[in-house]
Amino acid sequence: MEELKAYIKADMGRVAALVEKSLGTDIPLLEKCNRHILEHKGKMVRPMITLLMADAIGSINDNTINFAAAAELIHNASLLHDDVADNSDSRRGVPTISSILGPRPSVLLGDFWLVKGIARILDATENSSRVMNLFGKTLSELAEGEMLQLEMAKGGATTEKEYYRIIYDKTATLFETSALAGAISAGATPEQEAAAGEFARSLGLAFQIKDDILDYEGDETLGKPLGQDLLEKKITLPLLGAMKACPSQEQRIREMVKGIEPGSEAQKTISSFVVENGGIDYAEEAMNAYLAKGVKALDAFPKGKAKFYLSMLAAYVGNRNK
Ligand code: IPE
Ligand code: IPE
Ligand code: MG
Ligand code: MG
Repeated sequence: MEELKAYIKADMGRVAALVEKSLGTDIPLLEKCNRHILEHKGKMVRPMITLLMADAIGSINDNTINFAAAAELIHNASLLHDDVADNSDSRRGVPTISSILGPRPSVLLGDFWLVKGIARILDATENSSRVMNLFGKTLSELAEGEMLQLEMAKGGATTEKEYYRIIYDKTATLFETSALAGAISAGATPEQEAAAGEFARSLGLAFQIKDDILDYEGDETLGKPLGQDLLEKKITLPLLGAMKACPSQEQRIREMVKGIEPGSEAQKTISSFVVENGGIDYAEEAMNAYLAKGVKALDAFPKGKAKFYLSMLAAYVGNRNK
């Protein structure tokens, strides 16, 4: 991963500078909130995908940088809204805006970042309306995924089919659009666009499955607290896998998730149930299948450094610990 980061360092620097420049404001509270997010940056995976995809197909240009900055601005906006939807206190190892200042500033800050992302797309000198349409589709899906998840959390009845719809909508669609925007900026053929979309969609699904695995067995000191999904009554792939392996317990476990309370025994019981019934292995298998599918899609691109680093990114998604 260090090698990959070094390879795209200069262009990522341009993206980071454009993100920061986009956020200028004379409102002190807004400025303070922007600082908080900028000082605790994430991994910036989505703009990396935009840049590497453009590089794999042609070359990185000013429009690529605009689209990559848009992807990161919109991603952060979605997290600011998500932390309100999920009532989350911690992200990137630090308190969320919503826990420090309340949900209202977090929603408004999310709106600000979202609109700045859209502005960067509209700044592009070519293909801005096509790319805007792609991000528009993604933004609808983000809202739909979050809503479906909220709805499912009430009933404890999530199936695998709904799980995959949720993770496509809340995560994979933005990966896909980030890749397509990069591909389009570099003048991709329709076949190359299809391959870029397939790569990133698979990577995004794998990324969210990994996130759901980390919620059961991650290292809390590196990022998010463990067990949040259960507390939010989210039934994710590790639990679905364990229930599939042990159908006689399924109804009892679903009832437990529905009524879960912070600090309750139920949380520990369900976590042990997941591990003991192979839920983590089940989710890892699905994740690895998506990663393999994503890497296979790269066959459509000529051999080269960017293609090599895209496959390295896929390996990173499978091995990441935060
Ligand atoms: C967090 O995404 C939301 C999910 C899709 C799981 P990232 O893990 O990419 O977030 P940051 O930006 O690196 O913190
Ligand atoms: C991912 O959802 C957030 C979005 C992509 C909007 P989660 O709620 O599962 O992710 P974390 O755990 O808050 O990062
Ligand atoms: Mg969340
Ligand atoms: Mg959420």
